[in-house]
Amino acid sequence: MLPERVRSMHGYVPGLQKNDSEIIKLNSNENPYPPSPAVFEALQALADDTRSFPQKYPAPTSRALRASIEDVLKLQPGSVLAGNGSDEVLALLFRGLMDPGQSFVMPDPTYSLYPILARATGLEYETVPVKEDFRIDLDGILRVAESANCKVAIMAMPNAPTGIAEDRESLTRFIEGFPGWVVLDEAYSPFSDFSFMQKAGTEFPNLICTCTFSKAWSLAGMRVGWMVAHPDLIAQIDKIRDSYNLNMAAQSCALAAIRDTNWQNENATKIKQSREKLIQDLNSRGFQCIPSAANFVLARVPEGSAEQARHIYEELEKRRILIRYFAHDRIKEYLRISVGTPDQMERMLQALDQILTG
Ligand SMILES: Cc1ncc(COP(=O)(O)O)c(C=O)c1O
Repeated sequence: MLPERVRSMHGYVPGLQKNDSEIIKLNSNENPYPPSPAVFEALQALADDTRSFPQKYPAPTSRALRASIEDVLKLQPGSVLAGNGSDEVLALLFRGLMDPGQSFVMPDPTYSLYPILARATGLEYETVPVKEDFRIDLDGILRVAESANCKVAIMAMPNAPTGIAEDRESLTRFIEGFPGWVVLDEAYSPFSDFSFMQKAGTEFPNLICTCTFSKAWSLAGMRVGWMVAHPDLIAQIDKIRDSYNLNMAAQSCALAAIRDTNWQNENATKIKQSREKLIQDLNSRGFQCIPSAANFVLARVPEGSAEQARHIYEELEKRRILIRYFAHDRIKEYLRISVGTPDQMERMLQALDQILTG
């Protein structure tokens, strides 16, 4: 018989992954642009390296990739661990930071994978609802952590699916005041105005940041993420990692991508411009968008009803445009739309106009 912990849990529900080229896919916050050309050159070089690819094992610690991330992002040596997507890195943290039965605290809503990883690991958790304006109740999290004895706090920053980045001062006070580890999941930080990555394990010894190549480097299909923390913690978490957790292609692509900083800066600029235009275009149609610091927008539908949100979602799907609807109580009148290319945004807005007037 399987443990109750596993039988009673629900698995993570990803956005629909239909890869028909006719589909406009705005449901998983992927990057609409191809990665740096250096990524394709790296793949070609790998394919040409017939002495080792693919019959030999990959570099076990992804040493060159870790060193490049540290170098490009100006992080201290030994402070990075790379994983098979930031999802793997998060799973390692859930396994490594707490014992089964212990609890952590997180805002609600936030990335819906955290409770699933917790259940799979036998951890408990407390949730603290976001405030009326969807900002994270950082003081509330501190209070709950103290009363429920939570040794870890975790949240996405910018948060998902709201897109809100809390201000630096409030976050600083929170991290300094939290009686344990704070994990900031910075998957979307390259689209915001700041990152706390350089402070993880340095200015804030209790801070761990995670990030991913899936969003801002266009490598979702390669599955590469990383965490930044004090080197002592990295060495501990390294012990519970699979020996060869990143395959050769993933390491090569990520290494090429991180070095092309011009590509990354230009990409982030394009996405941010398209995001602001999307917000204006949606607001002018009666939607109410939450200010986003990410590559997606969470928008309240014009009638403010769950029925209309669901209707728009379904009608867009019929027109082969995929966005995300969440049946979560706090956001059931909202739709989450990933920022696409200007052309994709235009086609999505035309479809919206048809649906709203039809
Ligand atoms: C907040 C957040 N963290 C992490 C991830 C997962 O990223 P990865 O593709 O690196 O596993 C996502 C994916 O949507 C996300 O929204």
